[in-house]
Amino acid sequence: MTNTELLARRNAAVPRGVASATSIFAVKGENAEIWDAEGKRYLDFAAGIAVCNTGHRHPKVMAAAAAQSEAFVHTAFQVLPYENYVALAERLNKLAPIKEAKTILMTTGAEAVENAVKIARHYTKRPAVISFVGGFHGRSMLTMGMTGKVVPYKVGFGPFPASLYHIPFPIEHHGVSAQDSFDALERLFKADVEPSQVAAIILEPVQGEGGFYIAPKEFMQTLRQLCDQHGILLICDEVQTGFARTGKLFATEHYDIEPDLITVAKALGGGFPISGVIGKGEIMDSPEPGGLGGTYGGSPLGCAAAHAVLDIIEEEQLCARSLKLGKRILERLHQMKEHSDTTPIGDIRGLGSMVAFELVKKREGHAPDPDKVKLLTAKALEQGLILLSCGIYANTIRLLAPLTIPEAQLEEGLDILEKALVSVA
Ligand SMILES: Cc1ncc(COP(=O)(O)O)c(C=O)c1O
Repeated sequence: MTNTELLARRNAAVPRGVASATSIFAVKGENAEIWDAEGKRYLDFAAGIAVCNTGHRHPKVMAAAAAQSEAFVHTAFQVLPYENYVALAERLNKLAPIKEAKTILMTTGAEAVENAVKIARHYTKRPAVISFVGGFHGRSMLTMGMTGKVVPYKVGFGPFPASLYHIPFPIEHHGVSAQDSFDALERLFKADVEPSQVAAIILEPVQGEGGFYIAPKEFMQTLRQLCDQHGILLICDEVQTGFARTGKLFATEHYDIEPDLITVAKALGGGFPISGVIGKGEIMDSPEPGGLGGTYGGSPLGCAAAHAVLDIIEEEQLCARSLKLGKRILERLHQMKEHSDTTPIGDIRGLGSMVAFELVKKREGHAPDPDKVKLLTAKALEQGLILLSCGIYANTIRLLAPLTIPEAQLEEGLDILEKALVSVA
């Protein structure tokens, strides 16, 4: 069946609310390569939205999942616990930048964030949660409410749960300094909610869907101090930044701070759904037995895959590789920006291999050009490269190649990107 035929079936059978960035249908994936229904090969610079850091179907992940499926695939941890869940919690507790941590495992990123808020509210006995403009935390009612981007995530879905507040994320080149963010927080404390009613402040160390904006180190450290001052918990949402993507296992490690809770998902499972909340033991133990859980939370297959992913990150030194690849990607992007025949590139930024660039109307300045982004992603796809956009102005391209990509394929993908930038100029 062709992509066009499949697309017609998809459109007839699946609601339009679940939009797809491409209209090609995957049939096979291997590390950084994907083949569609018509046998065409693509380089995958989306990695299933930051999930396949260890590539598609890493042999060790597949072997671990296969071995687990020979034993059992489901008991529900709340009915019959199993060792690989406990071992994964032990492992994450040791690896995360939190002392004396405990971990609960779930299935999706949104579920991890929901649970982090439940735990924070229970521990602090406070209702309010503060998140950031441009932040993305999921599509469930609570996490959608916490998400700081209206179009398309929140349109028509309100009212949202109460006691959720937003403050601006510091983005210097969009005119928001770290001080502006703190001033907004002070205003919020004066105008809308007293600090003693705030359970948690949650942020992504590098905003994902919001545009790959990197929180400045000092900003994070001051935020930690402010939280301590007011008894507010600090939650780092590492669903997109986690597991070597930024050159560290957790992006939080770039900041020399200890968050109270960290949410993880995506790349942890190497393609198998698994998520979790890692947090200070005393906080994590606050909810009563039975207050937390979920039928599939920390599924045996997800846990087996996650152990393999953590092994691979260590054995293949993917944190170091992430830094190396990221450096090369930035170098190439800066070269592309210098070419007078490419479409105008604005800000280029990255932490490890979490790299993005903006398309702008004019070479000087930051006026966003979201239409060019659409043209560029379409042109790149035609040439065999899968690209994802993001950003509150929809003018950012994020590059999320698997950290296991062969260097020749990275260059091949960047060559396609460069040609596409010229042809849409
Ligand atoms: C930072 C962050 N938090 C939470 C989520 C929600 O994860 P999921 O889509 O698995 O529910 C995402 C998804 O993109 C994310 O990037």
